[in-house]
Amino acid sequence: MHPSRDITSERSSLLEGRRIIVAMCGSVAVMRALDVARLLMRHGAAIVPVMSNAACRLVGPELVWWATGSEPIVTLGGATEHIAFAGRGPNRADLLLVCPATANTIGKIAGGIDDTSVTTFATTAIGSGMPTIVAPAMHEPMYAHPAVERNIQSLIDMDVDIVRPRREEDKAKLADPEHILDIVARRLHGRSPLAGKHIVVTAGRTVEYIDPIRVLSNNSSGKMGVAMARSAYRAGADVTLIYGKGTVAPPDCARTVRVDTAAQMHEAVIMELDGVRTGRPTDVLIAAAAVGDWQMPEASQGKISTHDRERLELTLVPTPKIIDDAKRRRPEIVLFAFRALHDLGEDELLDNARRRLTKASADLIAVNDTSDPAVGFESDRNALTLLTRTGEETPIPLSTKEQVAEKLIAELARFVSKHG
Ligand SMILES: Cc1cc2nc3c(=O)[nH]c(=O)nc-3n(C[C@H](O)[C@H](O)[C@H](O)COP(=O)(O)O)c2cc1C
Repeated sequence: MHPSRDITSERSSLLEGRRIIVAMCGSVAVMRALDVARLLMRHGAAIVPVMSNAACRLVGPELVWWATGSEPIVTLGGATEHIAFAGRGPNRADLLLVCPATANTIGKIAGGIDDTSVTTFATTAIGSGMPTIVAPAMHEPMYAHPAVERNIQSLIDMDVDIVRPRREEDKAKLADPEHILDIVARRLHGRSPLAGKHIVVTAGRTVEYIDPIRVLSNNSSGKMGVAMARSAYRAGADVTLIYGKGTVAPPDCARTVRVDTAAQMHEAVIMELDGVRTGRPTDVLIAAAAVGDWQMPEASQGKISTHDRERLELTLVPTPKIIDDAKRRRPEIVLFAFRALHDLGEDELLDNARRRLTKASADLIAVNDTSDPAVGFESDRNALTLLTRTGEETPIPLSTKEQVAEKLIAELARFVSKHG
């Protein structure tokens, strides 16, 4: 095995057993395509690299060979590599990712022209029904050319997924590698009962203002909720993320609504339940946020003076309970709650979670014990037990939050197919 493949499945087994053709064009973003390829490898994929001659002028094939552990295909020869890997034969890969895609190559693929290794792979892949994804990168004036958008639309009509670039600094920059991963994983995901559902995920922590600069809050990082949002997207759902404070960026795959306080999160959830903003009511609510339980009846308008620091007494009142109101408002949704408990024995933990599930009329509840430093709030890892209203109990062993989320979303999909 090539030594560079030692990173395979380092982060998850999401793409294990999958072979992905990464076809690189002559854009400066080709250097970032190596990060994309290695991210796909970290999730288990094997890479078949293909480079256009223009790509080879920007990065050397040796570097691509090192990064992917496979010698890149630059020139097509008697082995008919495009047919071998993108045709219908036994050696067929699972997906073609054109990354980065130049304006030139996008136009040629849209027009059915194949005069480079990349375009010949694309013609063959699209013609053989292979899932194909195109990730453009170019300067803004090139992206603004009406023919480029027309060509992109032609590709969409051919069932090609487009990973839209980030528009900044007068450039249409290659999308974030994690976003490309999400689109690849979604395209490769088998048919899921969650496909096409509107899933709303709450994540992060809320803050309650004592005065304009001081807050009451908790240590939730938002990692678990964001991982749930990404897994739901990968399973084919349309995801809205209602995000408080957190240490991780909201993912590009979700429509994100930012909130501060528990009351704002409550209001945002109610609006999503009814589909006020999008016209699409919620099908599934995943309540992963750590919502504060107490708030000031009214925050102080000015900063509380630090002159007299003997003692400060605060009277707090309860915040609105999102999960208790969700099913009352829309009984038809599937409600997936999270519960963080502290230092309880196993039986007590599960009893407590079961009572909470019943009180909220939830369908599923995932419970963990945050007194274990290996799991919970700020950690990258988690271990949970999932309970369903139908009495099932599934332990999810300690693993990365990303892997835990994959399992929880798979369990949610199973629940929806049986009871949803
Ligand atoms: C340094 C350099 C950077 C380039 N970057 C881009 C780019 O980001 N996007 C793009 O569409 N074309 C870019 N080009 C132009 C393409 O390389 C050119 O259109 C070439 O014919 C593309 O060939 P290919 O599509 O077969 O890779 C760049 C050219 C140079 C010299």
